Amino acid sequence: MPIELYRDKNHACYMFTDLVEEDGQAVQANQFLIVDDDTGAIIDPGGNLAYNELYMGMLKHFPPQKLSYLLASHADPDIIASLDRWLSSTKALLVISRMWERFVPHFTKTGKTENRVIGVPDGGGRLPLGRHELWLLPAHFMHSEGNFQFYDPVSRILFTGDLGVSMMSGAQAAKPVTDFKAHIPLMEGFHKRYMVSNKIMRLWAQMARQLDISMIVPQHGAPIMGAQAISDFINWIEGLTCGIDLFDDRAYQLPSATIDPVVGKARPTLRPVTA
Ligand SMILES: [Fe+2]
Ligand SMILES: [Fe+2]
Repeated sequence: MPIELYRDKNHACYMFTDLVEEDGQAVQANQFLIVDDDTGAIIDPGGNLAYNELYMGMLKHFPPQKLSYLLASHADPDIIASLDRWLSSTKALLVISRMWERFVPHFTKTGKTENRVIGVPDGGGRLPLGRHELWLLPAHFMHSEGNFQFYDPVSRILFTGDLGVSMMSGAQAAKPVTDFKAHIPLMEGFHKRYMVSNKIMRLWAQMARQLDISMIVPQHGAPIMGAQAISDFINWIEGLTCGIDLFDDRAYQLPSATIDPVVGKARPTLRPVTA
C-alpha cells in the first residue's frame, strides 16, 4: 500500500516503500506517484521488481495513457531499469539529464525511446504537470554526474533521489523521521562513499535553503519531516566530508588481495606480490 505524503482536492503525492521484496538481494527503494487532476508523473520508477504494483497503484488515479512523465533523477538500475515496460504500457515521456539521454536506449528494445525522452540541460527547469508544475533542480554529482531532484511547489516536498537516503526496511521507510540526530548513523556510511565531494554538498545546501520545504523524501529509506529536522539535515550535508575528499593515494594501489570466486569475497594474498 502506498503512503499518502500529500493530498488536496486535485493534487496528491504517494510513496511506495515496499515493492522490492526484502530478500536481502536488492536494496530497499522508494517510488513516487504525483497526481494532478487526471494526469500525473512517476518519480524514479525503479527496476522490474517494482513495476507491477506501481502500475496498478497508478491505475487507481488515472488511465495509463494519461501518465505525463517518468521522472528519473539519474540513470542507475534502481531508478530506471523498468523503462522498457513503462514506455510500452504508457505514453509518458522520460525526463532525464541530457547527460544520460543517449545512454537510456540501452534499457529498451530498439527504437522504443524515439521521441519519448526529454533531455534536461544542467540548469534544470520548471516542467508543467496538469494545472501545476514540477521543478527540476540541479543535483549533479549527488551522486550521479547528471542528476536532478524534483520539487513539488504544491506539497512543498523535495524528492532528493540518492541524497538523504538511509539504509532500512520498507516498513521502516514508511515512517517519517523528525529526530535527525538519531537518524545520522543510518545515513552516514552511504553519504561518505556515494556523494562526490564537500564542495558539491555546500553548493546544494545554498540552493536548498532558498526553498520552502515541508519534507525531504529520498529514494531509499525514510522521509525527513519538519522544519527542525530539515534544517539539521541541510546543515549536516553542508559540513559533510565525503567522496573524493576522503580518497588519497592509499586508495589507488595495485591490488594484492585475491578474490575467492567460491565465497565471492576478497581475501589477503599470502605470498608476496611481484608487480
Ligand atoms: Fe544512484
Ligand atoms: Fe538509488
